[in-house]
Amino acid sequence: MKQTDMSRKILEQARERLDQAVEIAALTGAGISAESGVPTFRGADGLWRQHRMEDLATPEAFQRDPRLVWTWYNWRRALIADKTPNPGHLALARLERLKPAFQLITQNVDGLHQLAGSRNLLEIHGSIWRVRCTVCGQRRIERNTLANPPSCPACQGLLRPDVVWFGEALATDRLDAAFRAVSQAEVLLVVGTSGLVQPAASLAWQAKRSGAWILEINIEPTPFSEHADAVLPGPAGRILPQLLP
Ligand code: OAD
Repeated sequence: MKQTDMSRKILEQARERLDQAVEIAALTGAGISAESGVPTFRGADGLWRQHRMEDLATPEAFQRDPRLVWTWYNWRRALIADKTPNPGHLALARLERLKPAFQLITQNVDGLHQLAGSRNLLEIHGSIWRVRCTVCGQRRIERNTLANPPSCPACQGLLRPDVVWFGEALATDRLDAAFRAVSQAEVLLVVGTSGLVQPAASLAWQAKRSGAWILEINIEPTPFSEHADAVLPGPAGRILPQLLP
């Protein structure tokens, strides 16, 4: 069978699965925002090709040099600030309107799913638009340009981005909710993630153990590809809209 015929068949199968399912979940990674112009982490121009994550995305790095870490986060915030959701984000927001039990789980901190209109959304790695005080713990959304390093308006303590760094635990309530959703899912979409970072990567495995039908959408094969029930190779912004009526 030619690649295009096979993809057409998988598309049809996926549409049918989605149409029949009530419990649907999606796990997204940096790849879904690539077509909006947000760099991924591990691709050819990926952020981890240019920077060492140990210098920028660990609690130790922040303790050592908060200004350096904030320089990088302020650069990323500025880069993402004018980016808009692409057809992939919009398709997932539409899926939620068609299927109210739909649960979206994202590793992305860019806020584009929310901008697209997704509400049943678990941002398991936090948000680049939220800051948290390292002294009083207060959190708030801050979209304005920040000083470097920024300080808490309430207590003058040092602020940090409210994201999950390497070596830190994910918020248990969000992670539990994510595991619940994938365990209940009849269909799981795994979109634009290399599947290399835990515990996010284990969500797909949990769905598999629980019997979900799993469709992977990615421009490249991943370690999970051969375990998915179906794979649609290609950009998320082109493929996701084709899954919906
Ligand atoms: P990665 O950069 O590791 O992987 C991005 C994935 O998206 C790759 O598998 C690409 O092939 C795929 N991809 C790129 N463009 C695509 C497109 N247009 N359509 C579909 N797929 C595309 O990003 P993540 O898997 O999200 O963690 O990385 C996981 C975590 O590692 C991130 O949340 C971040 C990072 O370090 C933290 O910051 C804690």
